[in-house]
Amino acid sequence: MSHKITLIPGDGIGPEISKAVVRVIHASGVEIDWDVQDAGLAALAKFHDPLPQQVIDSVARNTVALKGPLTTPIGKGFRSVNVALRKEFELYVNQRPAKTFKGIKTLYFDHIDLMIFRENLEEFYSGIEHYIDSSRSAAETIGIITKRGSERIIRYAFEYARTHGRKKVTLVHKANILKYTGGLFLDVGIDVAKDYPDVQFDDKIVDNMAMQMVMNPYQFDVIVTTNLFGDILSDLASGLVGGLGVAPGANIGDGVAIFEAVHGSAPDIAGQNIANPSALLLGAVMMLDYIGEKDAAQQIEKAVAKVIEDAKEVTRDLNKESYVSTDQMADAIIREMEKG
Ligand code: NAI
Repeated sequence: MSHKITLIPGDGIGPEISKAVVRVIHASGVEIDWDVQDAGLAALAKFHDPLPQQVIDSVARNTVALKGPLTTPIGKGFRSVNVALRKEFELYVNQRPAKTFKGIKTLYFDHIDLMIFRENLEEFYSGIEHYIDSSRSAAETIGIITKRGSERIIRYAFEYARTHGRKKVTLVHKANILKYTGGLFLDVGIDVAKDYPDVQFDDKIVDNMAMQMVMNPYQFDVIVTTNLFGDILSDLASGLVGGLGVAPGANIGDGVAIFEAVHGSAPDIAGQNIANPSALLLGAVMMLDYIGEKDAAQQIEKAVAKVIEDAKEVTRDLNKESYVSTDQMADAIIREMEKG
């Protein structure tokens, strides 16, 4: 069966790593009819719009997309296309695995395998902010947390835990200070947990959580939290497993999902065929799992892990002494898959 999937190659290193990922998926035997769409800088140049309607139509039609990184101008220019896509399709789940790979240097720990679910739409990312006076002496951001928004992300985390053999869900909040917003999120979590007696549940205040994750990450399994805390803690978790080089992410809503690498468009190395394709490839692994191609997902993940562990045919960011190009690393992964 062939899957129709939207491919947004992105800008900067996006087109190079997307090309590598498409080749690896093809080698896995999964048939995908890619609906290639420009967004971000590429679309701005062609259509004078960073998020043209045809991109939205394509994602709506295909319901699954793989997205390369997109540049967002800082402090000025167009608003983040990534955030716009999340809002357009109500992608309320941001799923970020943090897993150690042998061969990637970590400062403190091996064998980490955390799954973080961050609420993706509410609170301080609502975009409702303004200066409160004309002299710009103070500014205000409005962070709204709803029962519905909390329930659906928390339930998603519990369902994930139950269906993926995970033992525990930890809900992270700041309900001691944010008594209403944080308190609501925690109360909803306590209620939802009652429907999952087979999954352990606990909660942690975010500042303590940050320390605990650094002191002893093994005590955690699945983590669910609000938007801003999730943004920070998921990067902290990436740091525990050796940085953003192999960090994928997914933005998921009801019936629509967009998979990506966590890193950005890396303009400093774009166009040189030296970017590491692993993070986007691991995003594609999450995508294959989501569309039911679980064997291919496992096959690719295993091959990526082996190539990284061997450290002979990896990109420069993974081995400064001896490295290969983006394309050659993809070739090595494909050869590893062929070995079975
Ligand atoms: P970045 O992640 O693009 O780059 C940070 C550093 O990591 C750079 O030195 C870069 O060369 C390196 N790097 C990143 N990906 C790499 C890869 N695959 N292989 C080897 N090295 C890699 O972060 P930065 O510079 O802060 O952002 C650049 C642009 O990307 C900005 O416009 C930002 O808004 C955007 N961005 C987009 C994201 C997305 O589309 N999901 C996520 C994060 C940033």
